[in-house]
Amino acid sequence: MAQLWGGRFTKATDQMVYDFNASIIFDQKFFYQDIAGSTAHVKMLARVGILTDKERDDIIAGLEGIKADVESEKLIISSEYEDIHSFVEANLIDRIGDTGKKLHTGRSRNDQVALDMRLYTRDKVEATSEALEHLLETILGIMEENVDTIMPGFTHLQKAQPITLAHHMGAYFEMFKRDCLRLSDIRERMNYCPLGSGALAGTTYPLDREYSASLLGFDGPCLNSMDGVSDRDYLIEFLSALCTIQMHLSRFSEEVIIWNSNEYRFVEIDDAYSTGSSIMPQKKNPDIAELVRGKTGRVYGALTSLLTTMKGIPLAYNKDMQEDKELSFDAMDTVINCIVLFDGMLSTMKFNKEIMEESAKKGFTNATDAADYLVMKGVPFRDAHSIIGRIVLYCIDKNIAIDDMTLDEFKSMSPVFEEDIYKAISMDTCVNKRLTVGAPGHDAMLQEIKQCKLFLNK
Ligand code: ARG
Repeated sequence: MAQLWGGRFTKATDQMVYDFNASIIFDQKFFYQDIAGSTAHVKMLARVGILTDKERDDIIAGLEGIKADVESEKLIISSEYEDIHSFVEANLIDRIGDTGKKLHTGRSRNDQVALDMRLYTRDKVEATSEALEHLLETILGIMEENVDTIMPGFTHLQKAQPITLAHHMGAYFEMFKRDCLRLSDIRERMNYCPLGSGALAGTTYPLDREYSASLLGFDGPCLNSMDGVSDRDYLIEFLSALCTIQMHLSRFSEEVIIWNSNEYRFVEIDDAYSTGSSIMPQKKNPDIAELVRGKTGRVYGALTSLLTTMKGIPLAYNKDMQEDKELSFDAMDTVINCIVLFDGMLSTMKFNKEIMEESAKKGFTNATDAADYLVMKGVPFRDAHSIIGRIVLYCIDKNIAIDDMTLDEFKSMSPVFEEDIYKAISMDTCVNKRLTVGAPGHDAMLQEIKQCKLFLNK
């Protein structure tokens, strides 16, 4: 048991209490951030004259030594320390003696942990953005190659109208684009430094908070010291953004699973991203997509957990806040892994274009356009809807598509039909006449792709 706060106590902590209270098994994740925060803090202390330049240099050299030794595994972060802050400080004092005891001047573990967590989260916000941008590039690549790949669009998972694969992918591009924008908003809003908030009420030392904030890449210090030590909003915002990303990935996974099924066969997942069955030799399962879908639950759990933890906490720091870490770390790692794996699966997936187009043809996806054809010839829409409804029933009975009917058959349903019906309801016409902004028609899609490229600075 290595504690920073023995002075006031006459009895040792009960071992179970110690274990329950300790956080080192998980807060060692922000070891690097703790070293970076302490380094900035001592630079600032020297700048305002609280430490000499020599003391500053000795402390920084000591911190660098600890970092190098942990990296080379000469020094192991062990659970004999209460938390990562105690580990670093105790090792510093071991190495450089009394000067090391000056590190914590004008600082509390409350602002220290608030800083470490914020630095760690900021790194993860950036890593998530990067992974998302890569995924967006993969999606854009599929869009560019499939502007003319026709497939059925669905509502209620029933074939609705023909679209293109580019159009379908473009919907996901928009979702992940919004996710990226959300992350950059969060990064901007969270980028203020809690260091110097002290335990809750700032400190009597003349700290230069602007300076330490700038050393750590922040836009400035947090403006209220009580908020500085107890704000976890940024984390809640990030978890919420992660939940939305994961929700998007899960919807996409659901589609991949359906498309990869024996019935659909729209896509084939690459061998490298599928798994087999221990008993059924024919099986090739979409486990990655299923796991991405499945892991959504734990990410939602992290958000719900932190919201619940925070809701009853009076100002300022309370130990409850230590609970902000484990599930958040898990959610951050889970979502980044899911993005990267999903990206890999998507970029190696084969699209069975003929099957997709055939499915659009077979599914009466041109029924709306057939009704529109009649409207163009002067039939009121409600009547046209009913005529085409009867045609669909007729075709189902004969197991044919609408365009398989002879002109005589068409005419028996309505005398208005002419030879030009075939062109009017071809898949190509159905898609390419839809040219409003955001529609699947060839030229509209090229415009959309242009916007996507602009977003990715391409
Ligand atoms: N391990 C603690 C946490 O994660 C560090 C802050 C401890 N502060 C205190 N006053 N006990 O929140």
